[in-house]
Amino acid sequence: MKMAEKGLEILFDPLVMNNLTVKNRFFMAPMGTSFDLDQLANYLVARAKGGVGLITSGLMSVHPSGRAKGIGQLVLETDKDIDRYLPMVKAVKAAGSRFIAQLGHVGRYAFSRVIGQPAVAPSPIASFYTRETPRALSTDEVDEMVLSFAEAAVRAQKAGFDGVEICANSGYLISQFLSASTNKREDKYGGSLLDRARFLFSIIGETRKRVGDDFNICVKFDAEDGVEGGNTLEDSLILAPKMVEAGADRLHVWAGWHESLRPMLPSFVPRGAFSYLSAAIKEVVDVPVSTVGRINDPYVAAGILRRKEADLIGLGRQMLCDPDFVRKIEEGRIREIRRCIACCYCIDQTFGALKSDKKVELKCALNPELGHEGKALADLPEKKRKVVVAGSGPAGLEAARTAARRGHDVTLYEKEERLGGLLNLAVVPPHKEELKNILDYYSLQMELCNVKLKLNESFTIETLEKIKPDVLVVAVGAEPIVPNIPGIEGDHVVTSLDVLEGRVQAGENVVVIGGGLVGLETAEYLADGGARVTICEMLKSVARDVERASRWGMVSRISKKMRVLTSTKVIGIQESEVVVESVENGRETIPADTVVVAVGFTARTDLLEALNQSDIERYTVGSCGKPGKIADAVAEGFSVGCRIR
Ligand SMILES: Cc1cc2nc3c(=O)[nH]c(=O)nc-3n(C[C@H](O)[C@H](O)[C@H](O)COP(=O)(O)OP(=O)(O)OC[C@H]3O[C@@H](n4cnc5c(N)ncnc54)[C@H](O)[C@@H]3O)c2cc1C
Ligand SMILES: Cc1cc2nc3c(=O)[nH]c(=O)nc-3n(C[C@H](O)[C@H](O)[C@H](O)COP(=O)(O)O)c2cc1C
Ligand code: SF4
Repeated sequence: MKMAEKGLEILFDPLVMNNLTVKNRFFMAPMGTSFDLDQLANYLVARAKGGVGLITSGLMSVHPSGRAKGIGQLVLETDKDIDRYLPMVKAVKAAGSRFIAQLGHVGRYAFSRVIGQPAVAPSPIASFYTRETPRALSTDEVDEMVLSFAEAAVRAQKAGFDGVEICANSGYLISQFLSASTNKREDKYGGSLLDRARFLFSIIGETRKRVGDDFNICVKFDAEDGVEGGNTLEDSLILAPKMVEAGADRLHVWAGWHESLRPMLPSFVPRGAFSYLSAAIKEVVDVPVSTVGRINDPYVAAGILRRKEADLIGLGRQMLCDPDFVRKIEEGRIREIRRCIACCYCIDQTFGALKSDKKVELKCALNPELGHEGKALADLPEKKRKVVVAGSGPAGLEAARTAARRGHDVTLYEKEERLGGLLNLAVVPPHKEELKNILDYYSLQMELCNVKLKLNESFTIETLEKIKPDVLVVAVGAEPIVPNIPGIEGDHVVTSLDVLEGRVQAGENVVVIGGGLVGLETAEYLADGGARVTICEMLKSVARDVERASRWGMVSRISKKMRVLTSTKVIGIQESEVVVESVENGRETIPADTVVVAVGFTARTDLLEALNQSDIERYTVGSCGKPGKIADAVAEGFSVGCRIR
């Protein structure tokens, strides 16, 4: 077996605390799911087997008023809850990780519909998230809530967990107490910074009293909460040593609330962005400090440790995307890592689940096996079949990978000279570099899975007749829609793909028609290159096809760089201008040396039509079925790859 690369050994130094030793410097950050307990156990066991030293559960509610969701909520609210977790805890620990329970209460982020009563909070301040106003807890109720946390910790101990993490982050109940923006109390739990922190300190102290010294207590908190009138790093430098004094063994430093005004999760947040916060906290405490946030790279992780910015590296989404991340580093197989691209698809699923009464599974855009751990990769086929995949976008690549892993003989045709389809252009706009990881990952997978590549070869009906495969997977993607606007045939009218491919040089004044993801990103690419850009979008808002977690950050960034017109229709294109019309502003003429069309994609149908006469077993995957996102393409590719018998 290969070893971790030179310089990365630091990631595998055990972290020794008085009451807990972690075998390496990685921990899985808490992430709520809606999996049932069997599924959850399989999912966590897969991560433990993947080498991560310590796993944190998703938030476990300590009180019925503190639940985030109706389906899949973990609870440690009564002694009856203990037994349910025993098998899962045992299985995760047996698979090689230490396991701690995150204890929390979501406070004013609870939906009254979910908890069957109004949400509770330090003060009755409406939540942007639920659009509901919570009820203020009485002093006695806060005293009782302290006990609820401590009693839940004892239950975690009885269930076999190695410790607890107190959730004082992200805008949940404890952080609502910590912040002057949501804590207006006049009793002992409100007032000065230290008075507002009394709730947290009491929880840590009471927990320590009950669980004894031989049980690890971690506190996750936001070193800057990013909310107007909230706590700053300066405040946290005062609070952190007091958390340790109260009994914390480790501090887990995060960077803000759900209401925070700064983006923390999308791909335009740099890798390891928040280690400056853990570094600052490390200066004022003598217990291990963890960082988390946008870490998908072993060199970034090792750099953080080497610079002593943190003692333990948190992996959130990277653990969803590749359960074997740590093992691959340990075995020197870094190129095999499937890196999280920070697309936020998983977050949107999770938050969708909170608001929904239906079960919404946690999904990853790139890891179609998330939530299906413990199950074999569909039944292996009865016989090896000759499978041809036409098109090497993410749909074709995933279909080829999965079919080959299951033992089929797979050949992949791509009409262009490189693999990846539209991903090659999706990676071009600013802040999209992470998408390159998908290309690197699949290129290596094709090699490892022995998929035969036919680049620069268009798959046609003649190819089919010549090579006679048993099964054909059509993954030929989509092409840009060209709208019917007077003047659209002009030489200065191009598509977003022409721009991103570098086939055309845009002029000084550019009008982009279409304010969806592709239009906005192409516009930003041009604006960053010095063009004066105007976006015209027919709908009332732009970025409707962008995931919620990325949308607001992206829109606010882009709006600063260009003029964004909504509810505006382009009614004509002339030689050096575009005529637009809106109900609000009437008709306007906008200068345009270049007009970029980005109004969506339509499925490529030529091959499918030609195949109408053929009776070959065939499947259609990705955008040539229905133009969509990477997540759809990968999911369909995987599903078909599994179905081929
Ligand atoms: C600028 C831009 C940014 C984007 N950003 C994102 C994003 O951030 N997140 C996201 O989820 N999605 C994004 N997308 C969309 C994403 O790229 C598509 O959803 C995805 O690529 C669709 O995959 P696919 O495999 O179905 O098709 P494609 O990626 O279109 O691949 C189809 C492939 O088939 C090949 N082909 C066609 N005909 C033949 C033939 N006859 N024989 C052989 N090969 C053939 C084509 O050359 C192409 O390589 C973006 C798209 C663009 C243009
Ligand atoms: C699906 C999902 C669920 C999450 N649930 C929780 C949670 O229950 N408790 C918590 O403190 N943080 C939660 N987080 C935040 C993560 O713990 C982590 O702080 C954040 O994702 C940043 O790390 P990353 O960039 O490595 O993903 C969740 C994140 C995701 C993606
Ligand atoms: S869905 Fe996107 S952000 Fe979430 S884990 Fe997968 S790749 Fe990362």
